[in-house]
Amino acid sequence: MCGIVGILGTTAATPRILESLKRLEYRGYDSAGIATLNAGTLDRRRAAGKLENLSTKLKEAPLQGNNGIGHTRWATHGEPSEANAHPHMTDRIAIVHNGIIENFRSLKAELTETGVTFEGETDTEVVAHLLTRYLKEGLSPRDAFHKTLGRLEGAFALCVLIRGEDNLMFGAREGSPLVVGLGSGENYLGSDAMALASLSSRLIYLEEGDWVEMTRETVQVYDTTGRPVKRSVSISQVASTMVDKGNHRHFMQKEIFEQPTVVAQSLGRYLDPNAGKVTLPDMPFELATVPKVTLVACGTSYYAALVARYWIEKLARVPVEVDIASEFRYRAPVYAEGGLCIFISQSGETADTLAALRHAKEAGQRVLVLVNVLESTMAREADVVLPIHAGPEIGVASTKAFTCQLSVLAAFAVNLAAAKGQIDDPQEDAYVAELESAPKLMAQVLHNDAKLQTIARSIAHARDVLFVGRGIHYPIAMEGALKLKEISYIHAEGYAAGELKHGPIALIDENVPVIGIAPNDDLIDKTVSNLQEIMARQGKVILLSDNAEDEAEGMFARFEMPSAGELVTPILYAIPVQLLAYYAAVEKGTDVDQPRNLAKSVTVE
Ligand code: F6R
Repeated sequence: MCGIVGILGTTAATPRILESLKRLEYRGYDSAGIATLNAGTLDRRRAAGKLENLSTKLKEAPLQGNNGIGHTRWATHGEPSEANAHPHMTDRIAIVHNGIIENFRSLKAELTETGVTFEGETDTEVVAHLLTRYLKEGLSPRDAFHKTLGRLEGAFALCVLIRGEDNLMFGAREGSPLVVGLGSGENYLGSDAMALASLSSRLIYLEEGDWVEMTRETVQVYDTTGRPVKRSVSISQVASTMVDKGNHRHFMQKEIFEQPTVVAQSLGRYLDPNAGKVTLPDMPFELATVPKVTLVACGTSYYAALVARYWIEKLARVPVEVDIASEFRYRAPVYAEGGLCIFISQSGETADTLAALRHAKEAGQRVLVLVNVLESTMAREADVVLPIHAGPEIGVASTKAFTCQLSVLAAFAVNLAAAKGQIDDPQEDAYVAELESAPKLMAQVLHNDAKLQTIARSIAHARDVLFVGRGIHYPIAMEGALKLKEISYIHAEGYAAGELKHGPIALIDENVPVIGIAPNDDLIDKTVSNLQEIMARQGKVILLSDNAEDEAEGMFARFEMPSAGELVTPILYAIPVQLLAYYAAVEKGTDVDQPRNLAKSVTVE
């Protein structure tokens, strides 16, 4: 989603800001812009579309100055045009904004009455004009900025430059993350550690309601009331070198293929194969006393939660509730006394998941998060953090984070089952050994990717594709459909195989490919029967299975999977559905790593 970078520097700001914005491209955006302050004067360049368009404009008309702010915008209010791109400017200030100003309509009406005219349709412009109004009323920059913040409702991270103030920058955080980077004789602002990776590793994470007044030499943080506060300095672990694609054509491809390695790394942090035990970090509560587990997440992370429900209920016999974060807190969830709420998020910044986390925390629940980005807001606000150790995930469509989430959730389920006395030592040992086998089996699946590429060509031009599975593989069917939708723009749905004949089977004809996820488990016969029902209606069934040789007759295609136990099969079957989506997208020539309309880190509700 939107990215921010601000530099109060001692050398030309524009190339440095561009470099930082490049690092933020992976978050997804549809326009970009930079403003600089040069000898007291503000100027800007903005462009719709990719950063190349902005770079071209900057080549034609360079921006001078050592102080600047830059932005990549993911449109919320107003189309992704140049006029709506940030920075927004008045004759006094330049501003970039992430988030949504919820009361912008009433503020706009108020400002319009005083004669202000608006250039575009964004909510951000009202902030620019409000601040300008207070400056023109004679307030000091600090008071004007604080007063402006007091008028805003919603979620925002802001970064501001003021004309005539060559050694001053303001930032504010409410709902959307903002980080201060400390340099020597320079200071910076960024929407996350990645934005500042080439500038500084010494970071101050602003807390909710914080705002900051920065010069090149000083950084002063204030809380909502305007009281000066001290916030600690952390050292960022984000590498300053750019993550590259290696020999791969896309980040997504690279991330799919590195899954055996990262899953092994991730499991290595939680499994002790010699002792045959799962080892989790110390928790400020006894897992054995947890009466109920609530799992909350969005998108792909939500599908990981759905898989985990099967494991936790089956192994630990603990009641589990799972919900989509954007729905969870609006339905008055009933928490159990002493319940454990688990929030799953690759980025650790997803606005809905974060809001749900805070809801649970306020209700006195124990809060555990599974995140990939260790420096994220969720990691900082949780009681317990289980990092998934997937490494930076750059492709917008989540792949390796999903299989690492599943691996950690499987380890967690085993640990909970042991803590609850539902499994004994030999059983725990067997589960640990089973999980240990995952990376090797994943590598086997990846080795046969050429076959999936051929199958993918046959679905790439379909209008609709269905994915079906049962039990623990029903969420994998939904994940397969999500991947295909996201990057190939083919309409796809994931269904519980047994549910098809209650309605969706009406969609089936000879043009509809149906991907059947059918490992050789207790449910295989039932799943294969459902696939037969589809074939009887001319559906093109593509079977992913380690068995069903006989049943494969009449199917359009079959992809042979290795056999594995119930903790590993969802991890394994995630791979062919990722590859089918990937190769279908390549066949169609879509923008695989930055699909249209999508953002990597969804920081608005
Ligand atoms: C799908 C995808 C999204 C994310 C979702 C949650 O490929 O990437 O559905 O899974 O936006 O994001 P996180 O896990 O960062 O909270």
